Amino acid sequence: MSNKFFITTPIYYVNAAPHIGHSYTNIAADVLARYERKILGTKNVWFLTGTDEHGQKILKAASEAKLSPHEFVDRVVLSFKDLWKKLEISHNDFIRTTEERHIQTVQKALQIVYEKGDIYEGVYEGAYCTPCETFWPQTQVTENLCPDCLRPLENIRETNFFFKLSKYQDWLIAYIKDASNPERLNFIQPASRRNEVLGFLENNKLEDLCISRPEERLSWGIPLPFSKKHVTYVWFDALINYISAVGQFDAQNIYHSPWWDKDVKVIHLVGKDILRHHAIYWPIMLKALGIRQPDTIFAHGWWMINEDKMSKSKGNAVNPVELMNKFGIDVYRYFLLKDVTFGADGNFSETAIVKRFNNDLANDLGNLVYRTLTMVEKYYQGLLPDLDVFKVIYDASGENIKNKILSLDEQIHSALEGKLDFSLALEKIWEVISLTNKYVEETKPWNLSKEHKEKELQGFICLLVEALRKVSLALEPFMPQTAFKIMEQLGTRETKKGSPLFPRIET
Ligand code: MSP
Repeated sequence: MSNKFFITTPIYYVNAAPHIGHSYTNIAADVLARYERKILGTKNVWFLTGTDEHGQKILKAASEAKLSPHEFVDRVVLSFKDLWKKLEISHNDFIRTTEERHIQTVQKALQIVYEKGDIYEGVYEGAYCTPCETFWPQTQVTENLCPDCLRPLENIRETNFFFKLSKYQDWLIAYIKDASNPERLNFIQPASRRNEVLGFLENNKLEDLCISRPEERLSWGIPLPFSKKHVTYVWFDALINYISAVGQFDAQNIYHSPWWDKDVKVIHLVGKDILRHHAIYWPIMLKALGIRQPDTIFAHGWWMINEDKMSKSKGNAVNPVELMNKFGIDVYRYFLLKDVTFGADGNFSETAIVKRFNNDLANDLGNLVYRTLTMVEKYYQGLLPDLDVFKVIYDASGENIKNKILSLDEQIHSALEGKLDFSLALEKIWEVISLTNKYVEETKPWNLSKEHKEKELQGFICLLVEALRKVSLALEPFMPQTAFKIMEQLGTRETKKGSPLFPRIET
């Protein structure tokens, strides 16, 4: 088992401010990082995010804003940094592709691959999608439209440099399929995406990747070390962030990083639209550079608005800050991870948030916290009885709750580990909450009190508190503020009831 954990998000284009699609990946990565820190210790987890700042798209946005590209990216990057701060994203590092540490590593990586003979000069002629910064082989194009964004493609003919993807095609297929290693099934996730990539690789001949742009057409990029007339194609530049942020090549061209060592579990979270770049280009780049592969490349789905992908360029993007101001940070985090299984697409609407808020947060969690603390106040003046619930024998419902508390960690582990099923993990936490709420209704503590069943009442209240303690610990990666508030209200022995955590929203 790995004892270190390295998790990354895509680096975001800074042509406009972030929307909820971007925040989705960062929230998911944040939950995993927080979760692993609890298990492996803070110093054994590294969480990297950042921004992708070169390329045509950004140059265009800068000129529209009447700024130099440098001024422009320096400005927009702040909206990403601010948003991550507001969302309590706990990344350890933020890489920008315009930083010196990145530029140097990209140039070094290019030089290594070039000297190895895996990069050669040739003529590129064909279709190019500027918004996606992607060349499309004719075999994949119909009606001159980009297969991804369906916008018109440009036709281009120019001298460029190519990376020998084709040389590594058979290796990559064998690597993905390697049955001698059961962990390899996790290399591309979910399974449907793995099949998609394998299907593509087995049915198409990979064309070599054009990894340069002539400087006269695009000046905003990293110069190739072996041709001053060219800059690096944004994807070759961007993917390198996963190594440039955390290590260096030495004089013998060997890469060193504490986060790409053998004992590290390396996970890349990406959206499904950039799976091909991560599951085909990136593994081959690493292979050519003599660097180990990541353990998992997990592609999540899209947030849609009325069946259409939310995106900056479509102008239907929802602003995360407005939602957070309206509902609160934790509600926003909870909604995104609970409402849709990670990997599938989801339809975004405020009505769906309000529904989750009222049902799961106000009725279930908020209510349990409030009623429990009210009882501790009422029956024990806020001072918890000193009782170990695991030594008490309860009725069937009480024992059931005890068992759920004891098995919760294991259940969350099996939902998150490998599968990254955040929604299932939350469901397991909510099972404890629902059972405990039901237990209050069944037990009718007011009767226990009236009938002076002192011992039963103590056992009952302490079980509620224990369930809440467990719930708050388990919730910390998902809803850090809420977990903290619950823990604070529970105290160690002296409780401090606050106002309801999630006052119902009237519709
Ligand atoms: N810069 C590249 C990534 C380079 S990583 C080496 C890029 N940037 S992006 O800003 O366009 O998108 C970043 C991520 O946001 C992608 O994973 C993409 O899938 C995700 N999302 C963009 N819109 C989305 C939704 N509507 N829903 C969910 N995620 C989406 O691609």
